[in-house]
Amino acid sequence: MLVPRESRPGETRVAATPETVRRLSARGCSFQIERGAGEASGFPDAAYEEAGASLVDAGPEVWGQIDVVMAVQGSALVESRSELDHLKPGSVLVGLLEPHGNDALKTRLQQRNLQALALELLPRISRAQSMDVLSSQANIAGYKAVLLASSALDRYVPMLMTAAGTIQPARALILGAGVAGLQALATARRLGAVAYVSDVRAAAKEQVESLGGRFIDPPELEQKPGETGGYAQQATDAFLAEQRRQLTEQLALADMVICTAQVPGRPAPRLIDDAMLQHMRAGSVVVDLAVAQGGNCEGTQPGATVFRHGVQLIGADQLPCSVANHASALYARNLAALLEHILKATPAEASGLHLDLDDEIVSGCLFTQSPLAVGGAA
Ligand code: NAI
Repeated sequence: MLVPRESRPGETRVAATPETVRRLSARGCSFQIERGAGEASGFPDAAYEEAGASLVDAGPEVWGQIDVVMAVQGSALVESRSELDHLKPGSVLVGLLEPHGNDALKTRLQQRNLQALALELLPRISRAQSMDVLSSQANIAGYKAVLLASSALDRYVPMLMTAAGTIQPARALILGAGVAGLQALATARRLGAVAYVSDVRAAAKEQVESLGGRFIDPPELEQKPGETGGYAQQATDAFLAEQRRQLTEQLALADMVICTAQVPGRPAPRLIDDAMLQHMRAGSVVVDLAVAQGGNCEGTQPGATVFRHGVQLIGADQLPCSVANHASALYARNLAALLEHILKATPAEASGLHLDLDDEIVSGCLFTQSPLAVGGAA
């Protein structure tokens, strides 16, 4: 197993921690950690050595020996590391690959005869929950978004009774009640905010209410977006226009808005436009977690804070990187759980991983397959 340094600017996480190195070493894996790979997330080289890993420098001779490359930003790695050309055919790359519509990446991996597992494609089924990096990282993003909004806000969050009079609790509006949205709701409630939540999936109502949120029912229109595998489908323009009309009133009352609404593989639904921002209180804050997919809010920019009509718009596309230690710990555990699952189906005599294509989890996240590895050990 090789854990290279991450190459995407701003990426602070690492795909394996000393804990998961120990865990997978007990299953017979040996680890090469590129020097400094865990530095930005608080895992020093010495801790990996103590866990039994070898520290290595970048170089084709190291990559030529590797069966599995473990990454966080796998697609950035493919773009930036020429050492990938030296991997053995059939080697496995596992990480976030931004697979939706990414034919260029697919072709590059196929040309190199690499097998790639895209963690974004992992099926959302109960037995894969421990492997689900989208959930572990969205959870962190939802939590941190509320902390960011709270510290940017010009008001207290909790209700306070002081000698100078009573302060009313802040009002949070959360758009989307998936993993990030529900964690944002829980965090906002813990801080004492009153929270309203909008989602188009009917199942979200009960989840929101169980966390003490107030659910905003979606507009009653015939062309309401459906649902596949627990995910919302893309909404029509007419539906979104009606939803924006409905949310305008809520926005005018909100102190912080946390945007998490997404539809996998599609641009994020536009739920706040510039005219709606004009109705918001100057001093209020919008944190847009969907900014990399085009944003739920008009005007948000990835990684930047801008002001519109006195409203602070925070384009928060890499929040897990700001909680690098725990984000890495959870990501690495997810990855270890997936690899343990694959190792169970790998014959003892095989070198590398055997990807069992009849397995729902493996076939779900398989992005490219090497013809050299079909039906046998990689
Ligand atoms: P996501 O990141 O794709 O989307 C976030 C939320 O935005 C979703 O709840 C979606 O319904 C909502 N949304 C989409 N369009 C909207 C609109 N126009 N207005 C308001 N909200 C809108 O979702 P995430 O967090 O990945 O979760 C998707 C589903 O997967 C959920 O049902 C979740 O419970 C389920 N899940 C299942 C797991 C498992 O069984 N292993 C693990 C994690 C999530």
